[in-house]
Amino acid sequence: MNQTRIAEQELGEVELMRENFRRDVLKGFSRPVKSLPCKYFYDQEGARLFEMICELEEYYPTRTEVGILRRKIKEIAPLPGPDCSLVELGSGSCVKTRLLLDHLDRPACYVPVDVARTQLLECSANLAQDYADMEVLPVCADYTNHFELPNFPPISKRTVVFFPGSTIGNFEPDEAERFLQRIVGLCGTEGGLLIGVDLKKDPRVLHAAYNDARGVTAAFNLNVLTRANRELDARFDLSQFQHQAFYNQTAGRVEMHLVSRRRQVIPVSGMKFFFAEGESIITEYSYKYGRDEFHQLAARAGWAVRQCWTDENDWFGVYYLVPHAPESH
Ligand code: AVI
Repeated sequence: MNQTRIAEQELGEVELMRENFRRDVLKGFSRPVKSLPCKYFYDQEGARLFEMICELEEYYPTRTEVGILRRKIKEIAPLPGPDCSLVELGSGSCVKTRLLLDHLDRPACYVPVDVARTQLLECSANLAQDYADMEVLPVCADYTNHFELPNFPPISKRTVVFFPGSTIGNFEPDEAERFLQRIVGLCGTEGGLLIGVDLKKDPRVLHAAYNDARGVTAAFNLNVLTRANRELDARFDLSQFQHQAFYNQTAGRVEMHLVSRRRQVIPVSGMKFFFAEGESIITEYSYKYGRDEFHQLAARAGWAVRQCWTDENDWFGVYYLVPHAPESH
């Protein structure tokens, strides 16, 4: 594809994404409790801040999951079998992918799916160079919406989806169930799903993870307002909003909010929104699952747990799921 065609396509995607952002912001701000979907955190600056969060001492999920993958890779890697097609949802910087690719038995192809086109193409080019026998077929898409998978090489024996990072926790449980059901459709009955899940734990650990001392998570949270200022002609004054994150024990989730420090009216995309002092915008839910809870969620979505690995604290779970046969009545 020539450069002009790529640039045109990119422009179309950027406009579409901005339009979706506008629609979701206006919808979310018109509700009695204002909210914003957390997927809009990840513009270029948001993706950079998220990478920084993953390195923080307080943010245990990334290093815990990587630790499990490293320690258990000899048990994990044989499960997909030879010649599988590996599809990664939200591939980002592909750090965990390499761990897996290094140990899989002759993967037929790797399909990273991500909205961040520049990072996606860069990582794909690097992987294609380093794994010369494997096809790399990047898909630039928001995986929470419908997207088409490319044609896999004929040698491909089964499709295995990799969904690390506990991003499943950012869905409401009923959405998570529908999303996991959709993945059964992507994999077919012979496929598998390798997924990372953040588990329930001492709320003090959770509190520290989402309120780090250097304020990186606060900057990450507030950055969505900067994005709205830039993309939606909004007029948020970031100093007038405060990052708030806490564990809601009843709901089993960490909640992130942006709290208005005073009464204010904010123009967004030609409309005006009133914020009372102390009123908050819900920007993210991060659900934490008990082991049994996740097993049940997976089962409702059509998956059976083939194997599960955790760390020594039981803070994080890596699951290999396979589609379960429909119950006969
Ligand atoms: C991407 N996701 C799993 C992260 C989480 O922990 O829910 C996003 C995040 N939010 C604050 N810190 C990290």
